[in-house]
Amino acid sequence: MPDTPGLFISFEGIDGAGKSTHIEAIQRALEATGREVLCTREPGGTPLAEHIREMVLHTTMDPLSEVLLVFAARRDHLLHCIAPALRRGAVVLCDRFSDASFAYQSAGRGCPWEVLQTLEAWVMGAAGAPADAGGHPHPMPHTTLWFDLPPSVAAQRLALARVPDRFESQPQAFFEQVAQGYARRCVEDPRRFVRINADQPAEVVRRDVLQAMALRGYLPA
Ligand code: TYD
Repeated sequence: MPDTPGLFISFEGIDGAGKSTHIEAIQRALEATGREVLCTREPGGTPLAEHIREMVLHTTMDPLSEVLLVFAARRDHLLHCIAPALRRGAVVLCDRFSDASFAYQSAGRGCPWEVLQTLEAWVMGAAGAPADAGGHPHPMPHTTLWFDLPPSVAAQRLALARVPDRFESQPQAFFEQVAQGYARRCVEDPRRFVRINADQPAEVVRRDVLQAMALRGYLPA
Protein backbone atom coordinates (compact mmCIF):
# COMPACT_ATOMS: atom_id res chain seq x y z
CA MET A 1 0.00 0.00 0.00
CA PRO A 2 1.54 3.36 -0.96
CA ASP A 3 1.74 5.89 1.83
CA THR A 4 0.36 9.36 1.19
CA PRO A 5 2.12 12.70 1.60
CA GLY A 6 -0.65 13.62 4.04
CA LEU A 7 -1.32 12.64 7.62
CA PHE A 8 -4.55 10.98 8.71
CA ILE A 9 -5.56 11.16 12.38
CA SER A 10 -8.85 9.96 13.82
CA PHE A 11 -10.43 10.69 17.20
CA GLU A 12 -12.54 8.18 19.06
CA GLY A 13 -14.31 7.64 22.34
CA ILE A 14 -17.77 7.15 23.82
CA ASP A 15 -20.23 10.06 23.74
CA GLY A 16 -19.25 12.59 26.40
CA ALA A 17 -15.52 11.74 26.26
CA GLY A 18 -14.75 15.31 25.13
CA LYS A 19 -12.81 14.61 21.94
CA SER A 20 -14.36 17.46 19.90
CA THR A 21 -12.93 20.15 22.22
CA HIS A 22 -9.41 18.82 21.75
CA ILE A 23 -9.59 18.53 17.97
CA GLU A 24 -9.69 22.32 17.78
CA ALA A 25 -6.52 22.66 19.87
CA ILE A 26 -4.72 20.17 17.63
CA GLN A 27 -5.91 21.97 14.52
CA ARG A 28 -4.50 25.28 15.80
CA ALA A 29 -1.19 23.70 16.83
CA LEU A 30 -0.76 21.99 13.45
CA GLU A 31 -1.71 25.10 11.49
CA ALA A 32 0.92 27.02 13.44
CA THR A 33 3.52 24.68 11.88
CA GLY A 34 2.36 25.84 8.42
CA ARG A 35 0.47 22.69 7.40
CA GLU A 36 -2.92 22.55 5.72
CA VAL A 37 -5.38 20.97 8.16
CA LEU A 38 -8.76 19.55 7.20
CA CYS A 39 -11.22 18.89 10.03
CA THR A 40 -13.99 16.50 9.18
CA ARG A 41 -16.31 14.02 10.90
CA GLU A 42 -18.15 10.72 10.60
CA PRO A 43 -20.78 9.91 9.81
CA GLY A 44 -20.59 12.90 7.49
CA GLY A 45 -18.02 15.04 5.75
CA THR A 46 -19.65 15.11 2.28
CA PRO A 47 -23.21 16.09 1.26
CA LEU A 48 -24.23 12.44 0.79
CA ALA A 49 -22.62 11.31 4.02
CA GLU A 50 -24.25 14.19 5.94
CA HIS A 51 -27.67 13.00 4.66
CA ILE A 52 -26.83 9.52 5.90
CA ARG A 53 -25.76 10.99 9.25
CA GLU A 54 -29.21 12.55 9.71
CA MET A 55 -30.86 9.19 9.03
CA VAL A 56 -28.55 7.19 11.26
CA LEU A 57 -28.72 9.57 14.22
CA HIS A 58 -32.47 10.12 14.13
CA THR A 59 -34.19 7.03 12.68
CA THR A 60 -34.81 3.71 14.40
CA MET A 61 -33.41 0.82 12.33
CA ASP A 62 -31.92 -2.63 12.75
CA PRO A 63 -28.17 -2.92 13.41
CA LEU A 64 -27.26 -4.31 9.97
CA SER A 65 -29.06 -1.49 8.13
CA GLU A 66 -27.23 0.93 10.40
CA VAL A 67 -23.86 -0.61 9.70
CA LEU A 68 -24.45 -0.61 5.93
CA LEU A 69 -25.37 3.07 6.08
CA VAL A 70 -22.35 4.15 8.14
CA PHE A 71 -20.00 2.28 5.80
CA ALA A 72 -21.72 3.76 2.72
CA ALA A 73 -21.18 7.20 4.23
CA ARG A 74 -17.53 6.31 4.93
CA ARG A 75 -16.89 5.21 1.35
CA ASP A 76 -18.22 8.52 -0.03
CA HIS A 77 -16.27 10.48 2.57
CA LEU A 78 -13.04 8.63 1.75
CA LEU A 79 -13.37 9.00 -2.01
CA HIS A 80 -14.43 12.63 -2.13
CA CYS A 81 -12.89 14.25 0.92
CA ILE A 82 -10.24 12.31 2.85
CA ALA A 83 -8.23 10.70 0.01
CA PRO A 84 -7.91 13.91 -2.09
CA ALA A 85 -6.80 15.87 0.98
CA LEU A 86 -4.17 13.26 1.86
CA ARG A 87 -2.92 13.22 -1.72
CA ARG A 88 -2.29 16.96 -1.62
CA GLY A 89 -0.38 16.59 1.66
CA ALA A 90 -2.95 17.89 4.15
CA VAL A 91 -3.41 16.71 7.71
CA VAL A 92 -6.88 15.19 8.02
CA LEU A 93 -8.38 15.31 11.52
CA CYS A 94 -11.41 13.03 11.49
CA ASP A 95 -13.87 13.09 14.39
CA ARG A 96 -14.62 9.32 14.47
CA PHE A 97 -13.83 6.76 11.77
CA SER A 98 -14.10 2.99 11.30
CA ASP A 99 -13.41 2.14 14.96
CA ALA A 100 -16.70 3.86 15.89
CA SER A 101 -18.61 1.37 13.75
CA PHE A 102 -16.94 -1.56 15.50
CA ALA A 103 -17.62 0.03 18.89
CA TYR A 104 -21.21 1.22 18.34
CA GLN A 105 -22.70 -1.12 15.70
CA SER A 106 -20.84 -4.29 16.70
CA ALA A 107 -19.95 -4.12 20.40
CA GLY A 108 -22.93 -1.86 21.19
CA ARG A 109 -25.66 -3.11 18.86
CA GLY A 110 -24.57 -6.70 18.25
CA CYS A 111 -23.70 -6.76 14.56
CA PRO A 112 -21.02 -9.49 14.11
CA TRP A 113 -17.43 -8.19 14.28
CA GLU A 114 -16.54 -10.27 11.17
CA VAL A 115 -19.28 -8.58 9.12
CA LEU A 116 -17.70 -5.24 9.92
CA GLN A 117 -14.21 -6.52 9.10
CA THR A 118 -15.49 -7.55 5.66
CA LEU A 119 -17.21 -4.21 5.09
CA GLU A 120 -14.14 -2.32 6.26
CA ALA A 121 -11.94 -4.21 3.80
CA TRP A 122 -14.36 -3.36 0.99
CA VAL A 123 -14.74 0.28 1.91
CA MET A 124 -11.02 0.83 2.41
CA GLY A 125 -10.44 -0.71 -1.00
CA ALA A 126 -8.34 -3.62 0.21
CA ALA A 127 -10.95 -6.03 -1.23
CA GLY A 128 -11.11 -4.92 -4.81
CA ALA A 129 -12.66 -1.46 -4.56
CA PRO A 130 -9.63 0.80 -5.04
CA ALA A 131 -9.42 4.42 -3.99
CA ASP A 132 -7.90 5.78 -7.18
CA ALA A 133 -7.13 5.04 -10.81
CA GLY A 134 -3.84 3.44 -9.74
CA GLY A 135 -5.78 0.76 -7.90
CA HIS A 136 -4.48 1.73 -4.46
CA PRO A 137 -6.46 1.10 -1.28
CA HIS A 138 -7.03 3.90 1.24
CA PRO A 139 -4.72 4.16 4.21
CA MET A 140 -6.19 3.56 7.64
CA PRO A 141 -5.51 6.48 10.01
CA HIS A 142 -1.81 6.80 10.82
CA THR A 143 -2.83 7.49 14.41
CA THR A 144 -6.06 7.17 16.37
CA LEU A 145 -6.42 9.14 19.59
CA TRP A 146 -8.81 7.20 21.80
CA PHE A 147 -10.36 9.30 24.57
CA ASP A 148 -10.97 6.68 27.21
CA LEU A 149 -13.48 7.65 29.89
CA PRO A 150 -15.49 5.49 32.32
CA PRO A 151 -19.09 5.33 31.02
CA SER A 152 -20.39 6.43 34.45
CA VAL A 153 -18.44 9.72 34.15
CA ALA A 154 -19.58 10.17 30.53
CA ALA A 155 -23.20 9.68 31.64
CA GLN A 156 -22.87 12.50 34.18
CA ARG A 157 -21.39 14.80 31.53
CA LEU A 158 -24.09 13.94 28.98
CA ALA A 159 -26.86 14.60 31.52
CA LEU A 160 -25.73 18.24 31.61
CA ALA A 161 -25.37 18.56 27.83
CA ARG A 162 -27.68 19.34 24.92
CA VAL A 163 -30.68 17.39 23.60
CA PRO A 164 -29.36 13.86 23.03
CA ASP A 165 -29.39 12.05 19.66
CA ARG A 166 -30.32 8.36 19.29
CA PHE A 167 -26.97 7.12 20.61
CA GLU A 168 -26.47 9.70 23.33
CA SER A 169 -29.82 8.74 24.88
CA GLN A 170 -28.74 5.09 25.33
CA PRO A 171 -28.35 3.72 28.88
CA GLN A 172 -24.94 3.44 30.53
CA ALA A 173 -24.85 -0.33 29.88
CA PHE A 174 -24.75 0.39 26.14
CA PHE A 175 -21.70 2.61 26.58
CA GLU A 176 -20.01 -0.07 28.70
CA GLN A 177 -20.23 -2.33 25.63
CA VAL A 178 -19.12 0.43 23.25
CA ALA A 179 -16.08 1.10 25.47
CA GLN A 180 -15.22 -2.62 25.31
CA GLY A 181 -15.42 -2.41 21.52
CA TYR A 182 -12.87 0.40 21.50
CA ALA A 183 -10.61 -1.56 23.84
CA ARG A 184 -10.76 -4.55 21.48
CA ARG A 185 -9.86 -2.42 18.46
CA CYS A 186 -6.95 -0.98 20.43
CA VAL A 187 -5.66 -4.50 21.21
CA GLU A 188 -6.04 -5.49 17.55
CA ASP A 189 -4.01 -2.52 16.26
CA PRO A 190 -1.88 -1.21 19.14
CA ARG A 191 0.59 0.74 17.00
CA ARG A 192 -2.15 2.92 15.52
CA PHE A 193 -3.87 3.67 18.84
CA VAL A 194 -2.87 6.22 21.46
CA ARG A 195 -4.98 5.95 24.61
CA ILE A 196 -5.73 9.27 26.27
CA ASN A 197 -7.02 9.24 29.84
CA ALA A 198 -10.05 11.52 29.41
CA ASP A 199 -11.01 11.29 33.08
CA GLN A 200 -8.92 14.34 33.98
CA PRO A 201 -9.44 18.11 33.90
CA ALA A 202 -9.71 19.41 30.33
CA GLU A 203 -6.38 21.27 30.47
CA VAL A 204 -4.55 18.10 31.56
CA VAL A 205 -6.16 16.10 28.75
CA ARG A 206 -5.18 18.85 26.32
CA ARG A 207 -1.55 18.69 27.50
CA ASP A 208 -1.53 14.89 27.11
CA VAL A 209 -3.00 15.15 23.61
CA LEU A 210 -0.42 17.69 22.43
CA GLN A 211 2.35 15.65 24.05
CA ALA A 212 1.16 12.52 22.20
CA MET A 213 1.20 14.46 18.93
CA ALA A 214 4.76 15.62 19.62
CA LEU A 215 5.88 12.08 20.52
CA ARG A 216 4.63 10.86 17.17
CA GLY A 217 6.60 13.64 15.48
CA TYR A 218 3.57 15.57 14.27
CA LEU A 219 4.30 18.67 16.38
CA PRO A 220 7.61 20.16 17.53
CA ALA A 221 8.61 18.78 20.96
P1 TYD B 1 -20.51 12.55 17.72
O1 TYD B 1 -19.26 12.15 17.02
O2 TYD B 1 -20.51 12.42 19.19
O3 TYD B 1 -20.86 13.97 17.19
P2 TYD B 1 -21.53 15.16 18.01
O4 TYD B 1 -20.45 15.57 18.98
O5 TYD B 1 -21.81 16.16 16.94
O6 TYD B 1 -22.76 14.58 18.66
O7 TYD B 1 -21.82 11.78 17.17
C1 TYD B 1 -21.84 10.83 16.24
C2 TYD B 1 -22.62 9.64 16.74
O8 TYD B 1 -22.63 8.66 15.72
C3 TYD B 1 -22.03 8.99 17.99
O9 TYD B 1 -23.05 8.74 18.93
C4 TYD B 1 -21.50 7.67 17.50
C5 TYD B 1 -22.28 7.41 16.27
N1 TYD B 1 -21.53 6.63 15.26
C6 TYD B 1 -21.86 5.30 15.03
O10 TYD B 1 -22.75 4.78 15.70
N2 TYD B 1 -21.18 4.59 14.10
C7 TYD B 1 -20.19 5.14 13.35
O11 TYD B 1 -19.59 4.44 12.49
C8 TYD B 1 -19.86 6.50 13.57
C9 TYD B 1 -18.78 7.14 12.77
C10 TYD B 1 -20.54 7.21 14.55
